[in-house]
Amino acid sequence: MKIAIPTETDPAEPRVAGTPETIKKFKALGADIAVQRGAGARSGILDSEYEAAGATIGENVVKDADVVLKVRRPAPNELSDYKKGVLVAAIMDPYGNEAALKQIADAGLVAFAMELMPRITRAQSMDVLSSQANLAGYRAVIDAAEQYGRALPMMMTAAGTVPAAKVFIMGVGVAGLQAIATARRLGAVVTATDVRPATKEQVESLGAKFLAVEDEEFKNAQTAGGYAKEMSKEYQAKQAALTAEHIKKQDIVITTALIPGRPAPKLINKDMVASMKPGSVIVDLAVERGGNVEGAKPGEVAMAGGVKIVGYLNVPGRLAASSSALYAKNLLTFIDTLIDKKEKKLAVNWDDELVKGVTLTRDGKIIHRNFMPKA
Ligand code: NAI
Repeated sequence: MKIAIPTETDPAEPRVAGTPETIKKFKALGADIAVQRGAGARSGILDSEYEAAGATIGENVVKDADVVLKVRRPAPNELSDYKKGVLVAAIMDPYGNEAALKQIADAGLVAFAMELMPRITRAQSMDVLSSQANLAGYRAVIDAAEQYGRALPMMMTAAGTVPAAKVFIMGVGVAGLQAIATARRLGAVVTATDVRPATKEQVESLGAKFLAVEDEEFKNAQTAGGYAKEMSKEYQAKQAALTAEHIKKQDIVITTALIPGRPAPKLINKDMVASMKPGSVIVDLAVERGGNVEGAKPGEVAMAGGVKIVGYLNVPGRLAASSSALYAKNLLTFIDTLIDKKEKKLAVNWDDELVKGVTLTRDGKIIHRNFMPKA
């Protein structure tokens, strides 16, 4: 059982899919691990640390691997390096990328999309969306604080009082909850909104105030999977009216709203941006999925009048050491379920609901029901 951890080829990706800690555990499960030279450098992990954990360091490590652990989907020009039937676990970003999936299928890879892991108790420790969104929520507040020209906590000094910053979090999933907690720790006055009723209590339990249009549609906005539905035009108009009044008075707004498989909902239009005080900061964590904020530019801090709109990409990658550590752990706990502990070899149960949930391609075909080519 050979496991390979290559260097990410996308220059925008500083994370790595394995750490010395996970390598030790894989070794104990009977695997041989090969790490590409320099793979951990941007996450602060040296080759010598991987070696000390029992890995070998090499160049083209995927060539004879049975399992490849990656952060991002293999690029088309990498596919010829992989052997047929290899299991590749990564954040595959499958929505809207059917052509890339087909190339992966054609190359004979078995692609596991970690972000499709069912959100059930057994799979909690394998949930990459949660592990990475949690860190992104934290980092969004730190990035906002960096861009904001004032202090977040109230400070009473001999030279005068600095008021506490008002922070508004829109979208209270995993990232939003961590953003609330972080902004509270920094001493901000925090409010938050979401369309799922379950979030109200969560927001209040973190010491923040909840604000939302709580009508009939709101009461039914959560799907069985725990996600938000796309809201009606009427609801969106009511929501916009309510939040427009609120946003005017905020110093920092952080948006995290997503709907699985759909473009991110537009929550802040340019009039709302223009209503904010100069020096205010908006962080749009949904910018990679179309953005929640009008005027947000992917990868940039855009200026709109006196307001800064932060649209950083790959926010988990902005704390690569922490996000790699948690991501690598997610992969370890999933791959562990594919290993026969007695025989110390791979024994994938293709009928397991976790395996079914994440398998995109197998035997030369796209087999996941959400991404199968339309007949
Ligand atoms: P997400 O990343 O898909 O969306 C972020 C947030 O945006 C969600 O709270 C969503 O309700 C909100 N949103 C969507 N449209 C909106 C709109 N128009 N206005 C305002 N907010 C809007 O969500 P995430 O973070 O993946 O969490 C979704 C749910 O899954 C949560 O209930 C979370 O507690 C649950 N969960 C369950 C897990 C498990 O059981 N293993 C693990 C992790 C999360």
